[in-house]
Amino acid sequence: MFMIRKYAVDKAGSDALLAWLQPFEAFIYKREGDWRLLAAKNKLTKSVVPKSSSPYGQNLIDKMVLLIKEELHHFYQVLEVMDEYGVEYRSITPCRYAKGMLTHVKTFEPDALIDKLIVGAFIEARSCERFAMLAPHLDKRLGDFYLSLLRSEARHYQDYLTLAKEIAGPDQSDKVESRVAYFADIEASLITSEDSDFKFHSGVPKIAMN
Ligand SMILES: [Fe+2]
Repeated sequence: MFMIRKYAVDKAGSDALLAWLQPFEAFIYKREGDWRLLAAKNKLTKSVVPKSSSPYGQNLIDKMVLLIKEELHHFYQVLEVMDEYGVEYRSITPCRYAKGMLTHVKTFEPDALIDKLIVGAFIEARSCERFAMLAPHLDKRLGDFYLSLLRSEARHYQDYLTLAKEIAGPDQSDKVESRVAYFADIEASLITSEDSDFKFHSGVPKIAMN
């Protein structure tokens, strides 16, 4: 949502996006509202179009709007599962993973946007892989849920990569490939090096020696 508000949409569209997110943010940051009501609030009330000054078109917006909708859907699906399993909802800090990649994003456009899309693709693809690895070890309810998330993540990472290639342009596909390889190296070191924080996207768990 940050990305399309920054790069693509006009003021009315930006306001409509914020209004869409508002009940979710109120729940997350202020614990306001009931998660059971979030499903009914997961809708964008206006069509969102590109601002005239934006070089990025409707395709970026449409793909991202669909992706946001799915991620918000996952959010209250997770709350439902947590409720079933009696797990309390509480805030946790993000692990080093996403930030570890985003610090290597270029600082000028359109390269910065292309890099952010590539990082998005890695996050989604790695999620997809981790859900696949975990699903067989879980009970049926949770395993089936992880498989349903996996199917979305597989689409999301392809969407991010397609957008990165579209924005770079057909004559720049080598450049996109080299940035994918660049981030693959960073990503590999983040997931294979020791990490004291144990979360979904952490590195190798640090094991206490005594
Ligand atoms: Fe996703």
